[in-house]
Amino acid sequence: MENITFTRDELKNQLQSSGVQQQELFERARQVRNNAQGNKLNIRGVIELSNSCVENCMYCAMRRDNRLIDRYTLDEETILSIADQIINAGIPTVFLQSGESAKSGYLLESVIPEIYQRYNCDILLCAGKKDAETYKRYKKAGANGYILKFEMSNPSLFEKTTGASHAERLSCIRSIRSSGMKLGTGNISGLPNQTLDDIIDDIFLAIELSPEFVSPFIPNNGTPYEKAPKGNIDLTLNLMAIWRIVFPNALIPTVSALEYIHPDGQAAGLNAGANVITVNFTPKQNRDKYAIYAKDRFVVSLEHAFKTAKQADMSLI
Ligand code: 5AD
Repeated sequence: MENITFTRDELKNQLQSSGVQQQELFERARQVRNNAQGNKLNIRGVIELSNSCVENCMYCAMRRDNRLIDRYTLDEETILSIADQIINAGIPTVFLQSGESAKSGYLLESVIPEIYQRYNCDILLCAGKKDAETYKRYKKAGANGYILKFEMSNPSLFEKTTGASHAERLSCIRSIRSSGMKLGTGNISGLPNQTLDDIIDDIFLAIELSPEFVSPFIPNNGTPYEKAPKGNIDLTLNLMAIWRIVFPNALIPTVSALEYIHPDGQAAGLNAGANVITVNFTPKQNRDKYAIYAKDRFVVSLEHAFKTAKQADMSLI
């Protein structure tokens, strides 16, 4: 497999691709993906365990200062019955996602072993920063992947935007790597005050860490950024294509945020080289409160996943 590297100038140029150049970039990304992994769309089923969060990120409505959302945490029985639905739908990966809190951290410790013992399936987590020992326990209990995005590589932008320590976040990312779980990481594109140079630095940091994810910024109600312009779809798709070219074997999701900023945005993500779609299994009454991206975010159903796979001419696995 060719090992492609880009210079800073090439990245700047490719990130701003449009028209024929952009189509060529996407074509190259699809070829890299198909040569490495085939034309297959991986599917995950997500359960959003809790929208309580101790962090206070400017872009996220689950931030602790937002009083406009009702907080919920699912109970163990509900989580297990949803995991059952995911497996019964033929989906091989149970994805447990949550705002960051001690409570959801403990909940994970009890549900991971149950799910693993019942189904022996892939268990992917995304629940924020934990200490190194906790990540190891999750791994031992049966989880095999954890997503913690670095969000932004620029430490001062990160600290201004999230109020948290950049060094600590990177240290958590490294602890996930050494726990033996697969690491998913990545950035947000199009944030207020983020420059193209910042994004190029994100790509270099991602190369160091092995990325998975990019989501376009979405101005979210109840946050300081609610009136900011939303992230640009072309910039996001160009970035996804670059990541695919640099990481032929990565699992790159086409996130629901793409569908929110653009009709058929998720099919466009697959055309730019992504190969994962996540179907939402959170109960309806909780789903509306899980205000990631936006209150009226796009919620992916199984039918939508099938339709998107078809549009992008990919086979579902
Ligand atoms: N726009 C884009 N991405 C967001 N995330 C959270 N809120 C937003 C938003 N408004 C992403 C963050 C986080 C992941 C779970 O969701 O990157 O790490």
